[in-house]
Amino acid sequence: MLDWTDRHCRVFHRLLSRRARLYTEMVTTGALIHGDRHRHLDFDAREHPLALQLGGSEPADLAACARLAEAWGYDEINLNCGCPSERVQRGAFGACLMAEPALVADGIRAMRDAVGLPVTVKHRIGLGRREDYGFVRDFVGTVAAAGCTVFIVHARNAWLEGLSPKENREVPPLRHDWARRLKADFPALTVVVNGGLAELPDLAAQLQGLDGVMVGRAAYHQPWRLADWDAAFFGEAPPPTALSRDAVEDAMVDYMAGLPATTPWTHAARHMLGLRDGQPGARRWRQIWSDHRLKHTPVREVAAQARQACRDREDAVTPDA
Ligand SMILES: Cc1cc2nc3c(=O)[nH]c(=O)nc-3n(C[C@H](O)[C@H](O)[C@H](O)COP(=O)(O)O)c2cc1C
Repeated sequence: MLDWTDRHCRVFHRLLSRRARLYTEMVTTGALIHGDRHRHLDFDAREHPLALQLGGSEPADLAACARLAEAWGYDEINLNCGCPSERVQRGAFGACLMAEPALVADGIRAMRDAVGLPVTVKHRIGLGRREDYGFVRDFVGTVAAAGCTVFIVHARNAWLEGLSPKENREVPPLRHDWARRLKADFPALTVVVNGGLAELPDLAAQLQGLDGVMVGRAAYHQPWRLADWDAAFFGEAPPPTALSRDAVEDAMVDYMAGLPATTPWTHAARHMLGLRDGQPGARRWRQIWSDHRLKHTPVREVAAQARQACRDREDAVTPDA
């Protein structure tokens, strides 16, 4: 997710789930070919399993970027066919690619020829206000014929005119059942559903019949949700840090203290502000971690202040205990 799932965010999420597959922000082929590759591609070994999401449409460029992804050690390359922003439309990629399944298929072929990594697609279920299951079925059929076997379905249309990207994540109706229809029509494919899912029982219900669930906003805003996922979905113990919010915060503080001097700790801290969501003292704790006046204070001092704020608040709300 753009501006959210950068490498610091992903390190933070790894403290909560070992097994959830993490995705980078969308990186355009242009940024990788002409820009600062290390800035866009470097990651920490602990982030695996990790997918690089590409935005682009030119098969030769996609192939070149797929080679970079492989060289950098990513586990998957995911092509964005779901982003509705105007900037993306001008570049002729993102959601508007759903109108060009043959071009997407060429891109998939080019990437698969170039690398041995799994190449996957994230897409919407349609474009504009017209709701037509046949449209997404044909899109998936054409792209699958090029060798893509994993489809992550953000189960609402993208309206390319008249809605902001934010509205495009809220206004077009969700049709999770269309992901099920895709699975029924293409049983050999891996179909992952995305959109509006947060609660564990809802994720579990989707997994009855579908191969995976992708969670975006709920994972970012209430990251503690991730702490249950390894046990619930992979039958594995969670990482030791995921046993308490304090342990997660302590590990993040160690991580932030170890960042190079050129990277302010605030770049990482901003991603963990939801950690104590719903807990006593969460508001005060969040205020301290996001207080601009503290941005030059050493991170361990800020951490001590934040922890104290939680303790004070806990004492204040447990007089009967
Ligand atoms: C801030 C933000 C940035 C996003 N950036 C991307 C992106 O780079 N690539 C992408 O495929 N989807 C992106 N999305 C969409 C999410 O991946 C997801 O499809 C959408 O939010 C619906 O899922 P959710 O209800 O679980 O959040 C973004 C969403 C948000 C809120």
